Amino acid sequence: RRPVSLPRLAQMRETGEKITMLTAYDATFAAVADAAGVECILVGDSLGMVCQGLPSTVGVSLDTMAYHTASVARGLHRVQGTAWLVADLPYGTYAESREQALRSACTLMQAGAHMVKLEGGGWTAPTVEFLVQRGVPVCAHLGLTPQTVHALGGYRVQGKTEDAARTLRKEALELQNAGAAMLVLEMVPAALAAEITAELPHCHTIGIGAGNGTAGQVLVLHDMLGVNLGKMPKFVHNFMQDAGSVRGAMEAYVQAVKQGRFPDNTLHAW
Ligand code: KIV
Ligand code: NA
Repeated sequence: RRPVSLPRLAQMRETGEKITMLTAYDATFAAVADAAGVECILVGDSLGMVCQGLPSTVGVSLDTMAYHTASVARGLHRVQGTAWLVADLPYGTYAESREQALRSACTLMQAGAHMVKLEGGGWTAPTVEFLVQRGVPVCAHLGLTPQTVHALGGYRVQGKTEDAARTLRKEALELQNAGAAMLVLEMVPAALAAEITAELPHCHTIGIGAGNGTAGQVLVLHDMLGVNLGKMPKFVHNFMQDAGSVRGAMEAYVQAVKQGRFPDNTLHAW
């Protein structure tokens, strides 16, 4: 297998093959996900909750992200993995200035990331452009943006009103124009996510709780394995239930996404 690259992802998009992404935070799970055929691995700041036991992602530091990114990168290297490695810029490491964002991004790229992800729309477009112009591939993230949970007032569906939907579409287009090659859409109505996807040929939408009309899907690894400290979100499916192994669960996820069976808009979307 050849390494997953931006041209390869664009090619998948053109041929209508769904892109699969899972989070991983350590070398072993990353290597297993890669072997299971997952194209993109996200070192998400969800590791704050999953690995560190924090109440939200707000307390995750750049050092911690770099530590886990390096672990995942080593795991992939060790098995000659081909996955595209995305790492989250954590809270407070990219909002101050474009220069701060570039410094933080470089830390994660030097830890082994191929792309960095940052949350929010509007004000983030110039930051995305600044990074992309300097050779840092960027994934944006709209809808429910967990780093701003306190400003949003909780973990709830976003873009439900006509006004909010219009803003989301506008921000998504701005992010594509700024050069974002990927866009996570979290907890937005399925119809809106499908609309945004159709409007962004050059920016691949990756949905989570956003229905099956996106270019790809992502889940938090522990959620899809059914190992979760809190309440399981409605948009998750436990792929471990019918699988004999972690590898099997990941393969079932890849198959279900590729065949358009997950997510099921009648079960996992709004
Ligand atoms: O941190 C994370 O795991 C994420 C995904 C849920 C998209 O940002
Ligand atoms: Na995240």
